[in-house]
Amino acid sequence: MAEQIRLDKYLGEMGVGTRSQMKEMAKKGRITVNGIPEKKTDRKVIPGQDVIAVDGSLVSYTSMEYYMLNKPQGVVSATEDVRFETVIDLIRDRQRKDLFPVGRLDKDTEGLLFITNDGELAHSLLSPKKHVDKVYFAWIEGSLPSDAAEQMEKGMVLSDGTVLKPAHLSVLTREEGLMEASTELESVRPVCLTIREGKFHQVKRMFETLDCRVVYLKRVSMGPVSLDKSLGPGEYRPLTNEEVEALKKAGGITC
Ligand code: URA
Repeated sequence: MAEQIRLDKYLGEMGVGTRSQMKEMAKKGRITVNGIPEKKTDRKVIPGQDVIAVDGSLVSYTSMEYYMLNKPQGVVSATEDVRFETVIDLIRDRQRKDLFPVGRLDKDTEGLLFITNDGELAHSLLSPKKHVDKVYFAWIEGSLPSDAAEQMEKGMVLSDGTVLKPAHLSVLTREEGLMEASTELESVRPVCLTIREGKFHQVKRMFETLDCRVVYLKRVSMGPVSLDKSLGPGEYRPLTNEEVEALKKAGGITC
């Protein structure tokens, strides 16, 4: 049998308003179920079957939303912020009001960020036990020690004593770097780094430990899903079903 949910839950999850606001709307006859004004906001409805409208506009129900965002610099990885635009603000045609970013990128970091309300998927992708690879492109300043890749492969110890899991570093050619992100600086070198954890400022701190500085950072993939190259900074698209399934598999979710 199709699952029934309360009308106020249905509308609340779609961001129509608070419970008391919905009661007021219902009293005024602004909410209809199958074309008939409904005064009882605690009545049950069947998403996908019952037709719900507010002020004559259809409100369709989505239980899960999944987006891929190319996070631009200057935007914070949070659901709300008093000072800065958030990554959620950028998802302009979102339906649900309970979306959040899967992990965090620093305010000055760009690139791949998943936005969803699927807590189980987010948790599985971020769990250190699941070893989901995160690949970053960076322009770095300073001279890398010749054994930098070896140190990272063994598992680095950061200057504050934090022991990291093995990571993989590739130094790219300038041409390869310029295909990822432009730079005018002559003194910087492009690298690609794969890590399996997500510690605070991890990539920047890894290079700082080697006396280098990250001047530009972009996440290019997470597990089996890479940033869609057609998305410019600030642009997003829904994840395909195949991408969602691949991410669930990477996180060890079996159904
Ligand atoms: N590591 C960092 O230092 N910053 C990020 O935003 C992501 C990984």
